[in-house]
Amino acid sequence: MKTLKLGICGLGTVASGVVNVLNRNREEISARTGCSIEIIQIASRTKKDNCDLTGIDFTTDLNAVVTNPEVDVVLELIGGYSPAKELVETALQAGKHVVTANKALIAEHGNELFALANSAGVSLCYEASVAGGIPIIKSVREGLAANDISSVAGIINGTGNFILTEMRDKGRDFEDVLKEAQALGYAEADPTFDVEGIDAAHKLVLLASAAFGITLQFKKAFTEGISKVSTDDVNYAEELGYTIKHLGIAKKRGDGVELRVHPTLISKSALISKVDGVMNAVVVTGDAVGDTLYYGAGAGSEATASAVIADVVDVARALVAGAKPIVPGLGFEAEALKDTSIIEIGDVVCPFYLRVMATDAPGALASITSIMSKHGINIDSITQRENEQVGDMTPVIMLTHEVKEDVVNLAISEIEQLSNTAGVVVKHRVAQF
Ligand code: HSE
Repeated sequence: MKTLKLGICGLGTVASGVVNVLNRNREEISARTGCSIEIIQIASRTKKDNCDLTGIDFTTDLNAVVTNPEVDVVLELIGGYSPAKELVETALQAGKHVVTANKALIAEHGNELFALANSAGVSLCYEASVAGGIPIIKSVREGLAANDISSVAGIINGTGNFILTEMRDKGRDFEDVLKEAQALGYAEADPTFDVEGIDAAHKLVLLASAAFGITLQFKKAFTEGISKVSTDDVNYAEELGYTIKHLGIAKKRGDGVELRVHPTLISKSALISKVDGVMNAVVVTGDAVGDTLYYGAGAGSEATASAVIADVVDVARALVAGAKPIVPGLGFEAEALKDTSIIEIGDVVCPFYLRVMATDAPGALASITSIMSKHGINIDSITQRENEQVGDMTPVIMLTHEVKEDVVNLAISEIEQLSNTAGVVVKHRVAQF
């Protein structure tokens, strides 16, 4: 039986999960691959006692792993940009396969790294980068390969979903829940990435490329975080029959691709609205298959390790077959990838949730609705909350029909100038599933 030798950079939450799962399921994995998989070296600043490192060479020198001639596959599990990028480049240039959970690295530098892997004839695998344990990259790239995929949308940040769920269900404080997510190993090293949607945008960019065959264009993704979501809006949305989720949406249109991450109202009747806590879910729509939904743990030690090891299994199977990587990294041959333009957020068309404080006096609603009417915005529902008056102002909540965001923004700026309204108009987008 052949042996595939792994070297791991990092020994954090994900790497210790990889060690534990490989130790525990060694026989099953070997039976699935026809190959023995051995971790021969791990590099990290510190040793951990949450996994058994017996028989593994431990070093603090990350370079030792990527230059070790015995290592066939490097698992880059340190995260971040540097030295992760340099380590991956060194490993690929040395003809080693690389498996990574580093979405930031792939989303922002993937175009060049895949080119490097292609020219070296090795695999660069990143399943664990998106939605933790859910095999969503394989599903999009392989399981749905027959389809013209029109959209991919989902809850792809566990920390953000955990925070929104705890705030809604237990009235817990934002900071308090974030601290718990950090202690549980869900949050990124810099939790701003989770809260402000940067982590979700990294994942969305990878999903969009695998779904639509486009180059990675992270800088063009629109990102809005959950810090803008107030408990009041969560409650008003609930009363209107919606849940607010932090969603990543990638949608193909005739003139380009929408790539956006933002808090989103979803009807409570949609399956994805029921995805709570650290769980992730992704809806992929293809012309042949229709809507498909993938659900699972989006973060955590062994859930993410499950995806890392699945990539290692792919490499092992190719090794046993004596083949080069057969699935292109982004699911399309490199020369077929398109630089499709990314649609500006102002050109996105969807229904909106708007909330404004208005004076409780004759004419206030009329002046708001006349602005909406002037801009051709069709109001689906409007509610004035008489019993939630603050001074002489009451909240007015509107749901619109589909309209272009630029048009809504024009109406909002006029409503904010009215003498019978106060403060900013809160705006959230609505998605239909
Ligand atoms: N911080 C990420 C999350 C980890 O909360 O989803 C998994 O990518």
